[in-house]
Amino acid sequence: MNRGPSRRTFLGAAGAAVTAGLAVGCESRSGKPHGAPAPDAPPPATGGHQAGVAEPRDAQPNLLAVVADIDDTAAVGPLLAELGQTILALTAGVDPRLLGLAPGDLTVTIGIGPRIVRLSDPSLPGAADLPPFSREEVADRERGGDLLVQVCASDPLLPSVAAAALLDRAGDRVRERWRQSGRRASGVALGEGRTAPRNLLGFVDGIVGPHTPAEQERDLWLSAPPPVAGGTIVVLRRMELDLRRFAGLSIQDQNAVFGRHRDTGVPLSGGSAAAGPNLGAKTPDGRYLVPADAHARRAHSSVVGVGLMLRRSYSVDEPAPGLLFISFQNDLRTFTATLTHMEHSDALLPFTRTTASATFLVLPGFDRRRQLGSTLFPGG
Ligand code: HEM
Repeated sequence: MNRGPSRRTFLGAAGAAVTAGLAVGCESRSGKPHGAPAPDAPPPATGGHQAGVAEPRDAQPNLLAVVADIDDTAAVGPLLAELGQTILALTAGVDPRLLGLAPGDLTVTIGIGPRIVRLSDPSLPGAADLPPFSREEVADRERGGDLLVQVCASDPLLPSVAAAALLDRAGDRVRERWRQSGRRASGVALGEGRTAPRNLLGFVDGIVGPHTPAEQERDLWLSAPPPVAGGTIVVLRRMELDLRRFAGLSIQDQNAVFGRHRDTGVPLSGGSAAAGPNLGAKTPDGRYLVPADAHARRAHSSVVGVGLMLRRSYSVDEPAPGLLFISFQNDLRTFTATLTHMEHSDALLPFTRTTASATFLVLPGFDRRRQLGSTLFPGG
């Protein structure tokens, strides 16, 4: 692997400054020692993968995503290591910047943008920017970025408070670029013990994806090369929705846009909500039950020829009603090929306008011994 001089410029002298505070990793979220688990069984902040991707399985109702740029003079390794320490302190409930709030099911997920990945090694997954797509009206400030701080919690105050603590720790090494908060409705039961929330169009969103451990190993987590193993690639797209025009459609036409029934999430080809659509099923007069331009067909992994993406999108109300589309996948092409296929004819796209867009490498999991980002920027 190429570990050229460009990376070294980011390995500053601050490597020593990162051990204090890590002892909080020995404690549970409630701040009590292990053996006294918190009643709501929070997702672990540490381990092979970061929290906030596959765990908790049902994403928390409140999200704040903050995207920032990293100053050219800042040493990336120490910055990431310090953010990791702060995450451990926040999720353990021992950081005074929580202002007395209980961390509960708080998760913080850190990603680095393509420019920063390329500083480590331009051949790594995550080093490529998203290409432009149609129906985008993205201001420069809301395209891309070097650092993603994704904070999720059941407590609606926690994302802002935790993000403020992390930005405080980063100090003037980062400059905020854009931020987006979002909310998820409570989940609709899909069977097989799974749930997914409705979006602002009234449809159950997040049904199909890599939900089993085997699917997650295959399509969600990066397994190689070693610096990124345990990480994944995230895509964030804020998409405004034309709610008025969509609401003007008959329920049959709304169902046809998605290829699923709005009330239950069941595919128009039948079966259960949790099952994927039967794309070959036809009416007696030979028409597809899931129309040719239905979103569930155009975005279907077998039609596009890609792996599954884990969609954990949030509804947004500011700056306009819509969806903060969030997908996790181990190959950026899973997203780009799907959207390219949708652009040719997807009945949903004419109701959307994309106004923010970015991709990040979600760093591998971390703990007291393996600091956040240390596999890409050793010596942090
Ligand atoms: C505002 C925009 C969007 C909305 C409201 C939306 C909503 C939905 C809904 C309701 C479903 C059906 C249920 C489910 O499987 O979750 C679905 C499926 C899906 N969507 Fe979207 N989506 C949007 C944009 C996108 C984009 C940009 C992509 C990726 C490029 C995408 C990829 C997928 C995939 C892969 C499926 C599963 C298809 C299948 O296998 O059945 N969606 N989406």
